[in-house]
Amino acid sequence: MPLKVPLKVAVLASGRGSNLEALLEGAGEAYGVELVVSDRREARALAVAAGAGVRAVFADPKAHRGLADYNAALARLLEGEGIELVALAGYMRLVREELLRSFAGRIMNIHPSLLPAFPGADAQAQALVHGVKVSGCTVHFVDEGVDTGPIIGQRAVPVLEGDNAETLSARILEEEHVLYPRMVTLYALGKIVTIGRRVEVRT
Ligand code: GRF
Repeated sequence: MPLKVPLKVAVLASGRGSNLEALLEGAGEAYGVELVVSDRREARALAVAAGAGVRAVFADPKAHRGLADYNAALARLLEGEGIELVALAGYMRLVREELLRSFAGRIMNIHPSLLPAFPGADAQAQALVHGVKVSGCTVHFVDEGVDTGPIIGQRAVPVLEGDNAETLSARILEEEHVLYPRMVTLYALGKIVTIGRRVEVRT
């Protein structure tokens, strides 16, 4: 069933913010990026948000007693803004149950590998170490694990001879920028249905 559009999306980002830029470009009738939150004051993503006229919030982890408190504070902030979907885009902290509980099935992440291969940090370098011939990116729902939640969409890229972590990352990133706005749009249009740990995309 289509949700009420445009869907109110918040983006959580710790760094460069190129996926945020792609999500901003993809915003429109289906969804709007209403809020950007970063755990790092100097994150470029905050400047990207401000430049796009989107509310940008630095949420200081040091202002909280620990990860549980921090996640609870994020949940309050996001709920207070009426956020309907949370999109992690290069957000480098663990999402804990205090946040998951409030946004069950409504937190997405993008990861630079074809999950379940190479979860966690340095996915592109891991792919090279393992000598895979194809890698790519994955958009998935977030659960309590690291990059373990139900897979929504993937795009593959070839691993070329002579690739290093930078060249492979750049090729994957191009596909991330296509995939993420597309998946958020489909979600907003009610075309993503989760059945257990499988996700059906009804286009
Ligand atoms: C991307 O490669 C994303 O897949 C990973 O972190 C990186 C974030 O890049 N989770 P950016 O901040 O969106 O440019």
